[in-house]
Amino acid sequence: MSWKGIGIFDSGVGGLTVLKEIIGAVPQEDTVYLGDTARVPYGTKSPATVIRYAEEIAAFLAKRDIKLLVVACNTASAVALEELKKHYSIPIVGVIEPGARRAAAMTRTGKVGVIGTEGTIKSSAYAKAIKRINPEVEVLTRACPLFVPLAEEGWVDNDVARMTAHTYLDGLREAGVDTLVLGCTHYPLLKGVIAEVMGPAVKLVDSAEETARTVAEILRIQGTLRPESEHGNHHYFVTDVPAGFIRVGNRFLGGRLGDVHQVSLEEYRATGTADEQA
Ligand code: DGL
Repeated sequence: MSWKGIGIFDSGVGGLTVLKEIIGAVPQEDTVYLGDTARVPYGTKSPATVIRYAEEIAAFLAKRDIKLLVVACNTASAVALEELKKHYSIPIVGVIEPGARRAAAMTRTGKVGVIGTEGTIKSSAYAKAIKRINPEVEVLTRACPLFVPLAEEGWVDNDVARMTAHTYLDGLREAGVDTLVLGCTHYPLLKGVIAEVMGPAVKLVDSAEETARTVAEILRIQGTLRPESEHGNHHYFVTDVPAGFIRVGNRFLGGRLGDVHQVSLEEYRATGTADEQA
């Protein structure tokens, strides 16, 4: 019997934190990952541009015979998820909803902090999702754009990282949040410093972990989960030369990166997704 794989995409290397959790949760599944390294970052771009990029990537991955699509990028999940869902019949899982669900369940004081890129924070996608679950929860947000280059540079536990985290997060801590959502693919790498600055009373919600749980759950419910005796294969596509992706990606994924190919999304550019039905 041939099993379909899981498609997953991000603006670049960051989504490997989500892939890592998915591989941990369902190691038997094949995955195909696309990192849009030629056009990263998405976090500073307009919703219209991010939607266009996401549509092209979804069309590319839909051609790879996938049974589920994960939008690992928080920015793309925030602005493009609903648009993508209109075009495909397979489940499409973003990272916002799973993180929001967890945060709403975890808070005791009813004050939740959310950090992410400018695009994610401006969209208010997390705040809306949390309030849909529990309108009583107060959501405080902060864009933390410098965390992205710090994570890619591997500067996750030094004075620069610490000082940056204080600048971004002191206000949220002082405002009394008891739960903080790491609403960006890169932030799990900075978990140590973020936890240190927020203090032991604040619980961190890792959207990548919650998304992996959701993926496993959907496949189980649908009956499309591969038997546990299987061993998944992992393929990677990037839109720029692979060297930088491999170098940084090995750190994000934990040294298991192989089989990386450069692709062009040119042929998906004009058509978008209108005719695609994966
Ligand atoms: N992957 C993006 C996100 O999770 C961060 C990097 C970018 O700005 O593209 O929002």
